[in-house]
Amino acid sequence: MSKKIKLGVLISGRGSNLQSIIDASKAGNIDAEVVVVISDKKDAQGLESARVNNIDTIFINPKEYKKREEYDRKVVEELKKYKVALVLLAGFMRIVTSALIEPFRDRIMNIHPALLPSFPGINAQRQAIEYGVKFSGCTVHFVEEGMDEGPIIIQAVVPVSDNDTAESLSKRILKYEHKIYPMAVQFFAEGRLKVEGRRVAVSGDGAYHLGEGILINPYLNRR
Ligand code: GAR
Repeated sequence: MSKKIKLGVLISGRGSNLQSIIDASKAGNIDAEVVVVISDKKDAQGLESARVNNIDTIFINPKEYKKREEYDRKVVEELKKYKVALVLLAGFMRIVTSALIEPFRDRIMNIHPALLPSFPGINAQRQAIEYGVKFSGCTVHFVEEGMDEGPIIIQAVVPVSDNDTAESLSKRILKYEHKIYPMAVQFFAEGRLKVEGRRVAVSGDGAYHLGEGILINPYLNRR
């Protein structure tokens, strides 16, 4: 019998994070498998990636629901049919309500291309460049009510250079999104995550690398 936990992934577009989870699952790097992909966009590219991997896909049309809560209840209904243990928002560009969050409290994650709580919302990479930060990165967090809100599970820091564009920074960050989302899923699958208020404790070996983890950017190379 399979010990893999069942994942439901919600997308709106390209689906490269979805793909990274599918790849990690197929490679046996995570004890989890995607059983259903739900999209609010009929022609989301990620739906095709799911199909070629024989994963069920569902398009739920926002136009058919008057309220966000009604839409979210439909999403929950589908996720429950598939006995999903963990829900992943992966470029799902809708604000989700308690109707979705409550049934999956501490079992629903999101990935965001910035070091939250900086730069929530859309165009996070552009926001980081316009603000002039020297580091940005990406964050996986448990989802709470609000935009890109909730206890942080894992972050990766990515340097920003003077000549970065939103595109070049997005590309650099995305590489790390594809690393940390599968990691967060595996921490969950191993039962290593404990939410304590705003903080997520990660137990077990190898969870933290604090030794040389000091980052300086830009760096004056002179002694
Ligand atoms: C990713 O960069 C993800 O972090 C971001 O959308 C992109 C989706 O790409 N999500 C947000 O900005 C959430 N606020 P993908 O469809 O290729 O995974």
